[in-house]
Amino acid sequence: MPGNPVLDAIRERRSIRKYQAKPIPKEVIDQLLSAAVMSPSAMHKEPWRFIVITDRKMINELSDRVKKRAGIIGHAPRFAERFTSREDTIFYGAPLLIIVIAPKENEWAHIDCGILAQTMFLAAHSLGLGSCYIGFGRMLNSDAEALKLLGIPSDMEIVAPLIFGYSSEEKPAQKRSFEDKILKRI
Ligand SMILES: Cc1cc2nc3c(=O)[nH]c(=O)nc-3n(C[C@H](O)[C@H](O)[C@H](O)COP(=O)(O)O)c2cc1C
Repeated sequence: MPGNPVLDAIRERRSIRKYQAKPIPKEVIDQLLSAAVMSPSAMHKEPWRFIVITDRKMINELSDRVKKRAGIIGHAPRFAERFTSREDTIFYGAPLLIIVIAPKENEWAHIDCGILAQTMFLAAHSLGLGSCYIGFGRMLNSDAEALKLLGIPSDMEIVAPLIFGYSSEEKPAQKRSFEDKILKRI
């Protein structure tokens, strides 16, 4: 359905894993965050809090810490190369990492933050930015030093580590069908 900017953005958004080093201006980061907080949340609790990281050294340190945790926990051999590389193979060298945290005791927080992630991804797309959800980043929840470094309160946890930046890869929209996902029309 061409010509509908929302549907176009939904179709064209892809997870981006190659980024230009170019920093994202603060005003653009703030546009992303102001879009984020328009997301719906259960009982309108807005459980999300943001840790906004543009410091390359900090992102690299967090990447190294995830790799270390991943090694300890033991992952599929197909990840071995990523976990032993000295490059930032977790956050893909993205110039912006937004760690979305939420209260551990809020049973809806993961859903709320998942919806928020997609809001941010679509906003990012409309602003000419690529994005990706980095589930691996949640391994930092079991790294007490990292939680301290990031200033995450003990009653909160990392739910959605999200990266953003100007893409340096071309990823066309995919063809995906919904017909085979319908179990029943009633
Ligand atoms: C909850 C969640 C966790 C994800 N974790 C990672 C991750 O750790 N690393 C990564 O490269 N991609 C991650 N992804 C991105 C998915 O691999 C990607 O969305 C999927 O392959 C579909 O591709 P698309 O986003 O381009 O449509 C994650 C996506 C979601 C929704």
